[in-house]
Amino acid sequence: MGFFSGSLSESCEFCHKSEITWEAYAQDNDMKNMARRMVIMMNGINQAYFGGKREVTCYTCHRNSAIPKVTPTFADIYNPNPAPMTRTRSPNPSPVPLLRNRFSINTCV
Ligand code: HEC
Ligand code: HEC
Repeated sequence: MGFFSGSLSESCEFCHKSEITWEAYAQDNDMKNMARRMVIMMNGINQAYFGGKREVTCYTCHRNSAIPKVTPTFADIYNPNPAPMTRTRSPNPSPVPLLRNRFSINTCV
């Protein structure tokens, strides 16, 4: 059950009316029946395509969401907020001290 909750990022109450009583966990409802169909589908995929090995899980599709995404989000791929650039060398020195040295103008100012 923890794996169901974790895969969908939903609480136990998402599928159970558990806030009523502890016994309510055993009551059936649409969401529980949907989850049962999901188990059957998942087992069918693993049986048909992966020799019965548990390759596809609830998390494979759900990735922390009740309704899996159908299309990729390009914003995630081309991150619009790249990390700020870090300075790789010190800033250019001010030209004034250089000029002062070269022309010995130090004493004039
Ligand atoms: C995605 C839906 C889903 C989520 C989330 C979920 N469950 Fe369940 N749970 C089910 C289904 C479906 C069954 C019935 C399994 C079966 O067919 O026997 C079940 C059965 C149970 C049962 C056995 C009830 C009985 O029949 O006596 C308990 C107890 C339970 N869940 C507790 C929890 C707890 C605690 C959490 C949170 C950590 C949780 N569940 C989260 C779907 C869910
Ligand atoms: C092959 C992909 C896939 C796998 C694996 C999968 N799901 Fe789903 N699931 C979906 C899709 C797609 C939907 C959304 C259907 C829709 O839009 O109504 C969904 C919907 C649901 C919903 C209904 C959510 C809602 O808000 O109506 C529940 C509950 C659920 N899945 C539970 C599970 C559980 C538990 C497992 C693991 C046993 C599982 N799913 C594995 C694809 C998957």
